[in-house]
Amino acid sequence: MKLGILGGSFNPVHLGHLFLADNVLSALKLDRVVFIPAYRSPFKLDDIITVTANDRVDMLCAAIAADARYAVDNCEVRREGVSYTVNTIEDILLRYNPSEKPVLIIGDDVAPDFPKWRESDKILQLAQIAVAHRINSSAVKYPFPCIRIDNKVMDISSQDIRQKIKDGSSWRSLVPPEVCAVIEDRQLYGYNHEQSNDFSQVQIQRIEAAARDALNTERFLHSRNTAIAAYDLCLNYGLNPMTGYLAGIAHDLAKQLDGKQILKILKSKNNIFKISALENEKPNLLHGKAAAVLLREHFCIHNKDVLEAVAFHTLGSENMGLLAKIIYVADKTEISRNIDPALRKMSLMGSKESDLDSILYAVLEKTIVKLKSKELDLSKDTLMLLEKIKQK
Ligand SMILES: [Fe+2]
Ligand SMILES: [Fe+2]
Repeated sequence: MKLGILGGSFNPVHLGHLFLADNVLSALKLDRVVFIPAYRSPFKLDDIITVTANDRVDMLCAAIAADARYAVDNCEVRREGVSYTVNTIEDILLRYNPSEKPVLIIGDDVAPDFPKWRESDKILQLAQIAVAHRINSSAVKYPFPCIRIDNKVMDISSQDIRQKIKDGSSWRSLVPPEVCAVIEDRQLYGYNHEQSNDFSQVQIQRIEAAARDALNTERFLHSRNTAIAAYDLCLNYGLNPMTGYLAGIAHDLAKQLDGKQILKILKSKNNIFKISALENEKPNLLHGKAAAVLLREHFCIHNKDVLEAVAFHTLGSENMGLLAKIIYVADKTEISRNIDPALRKMSLMGSKESDLDSILYAVLEKTIVKLKSKELDLSKDTLMLLEKIKQK
């Protein structure tokens, strides 16, 4: 077996690391690349690592899921202390027993210092060195035998990603979606999942696929139309439109579940919503709250506004925020609903929260008339919402 060894802090692992491994693997026809996270890199002794070594190992495992060309080895983490490459190669040779000298992949950013590494002569006896671009140094000659890899460089750095997460700016497209999930779940690098409104395309596509699976064609189309209507309303009212799309596509995720299944979902530790007597009696009214629990549990969505918008779309709540109002209105006015066209037009005209309140009031009144005509019970939440908007 032809083995490649790629060490680093992987704090966190990102697409640039995977791209590099893929390039070297293809260029040298390796059978496998082993990622080895350093416990403490001798080059970064001053670095304060804010996540545990096991978090970094877990992120690596998530990044290479279902790809047998890659492995993660935690020998340096188990050894603790400063991680010296020479010890790692000895360990790898002993356990992996490769058919030929393993290839140690190093970047051209650290290559000039290689001769100063601990027992670099011994490393040269035990492994072949492959120098890949991290910066472009094609013209530089190194005083040790090595294979040069002419790879393209993806301009991503772990440090940059950590900073973006901390600042709340866009970072998700820089790491594999599975790594996103670990960072979000464990709230690593200062990630605050209640405030984040940066959702990856992949994350939303997964939720949309789940809605397509869970709903019949007509209901799915309704969800898709609600997502589009919410997207447009968010643009008008100054919210991130993809936040509206996400809440819209997810709002009826639990619509086709039966009462028993819905109540089971709401018993989860991820349920943050209260259940009223009416809801307990008619669990189908809880399909919004159940969808919010599913979003937290299966899709790592923790944004409070999104969860509340999904949860409150059925009965409303006096504590509805702007996004929740948008989803309520989008759900009732989307293009396939048989409603007064003037109401739909009105919903697309406004731009201030007071405009939205007027539309919400009109939509609520119609809902109440409809419920009364069917002699159905009115929820206290719906009536309180109506009263609150009336006062405004
Ligand atoms: Fe619904
Ligand atoms: Fe709906």
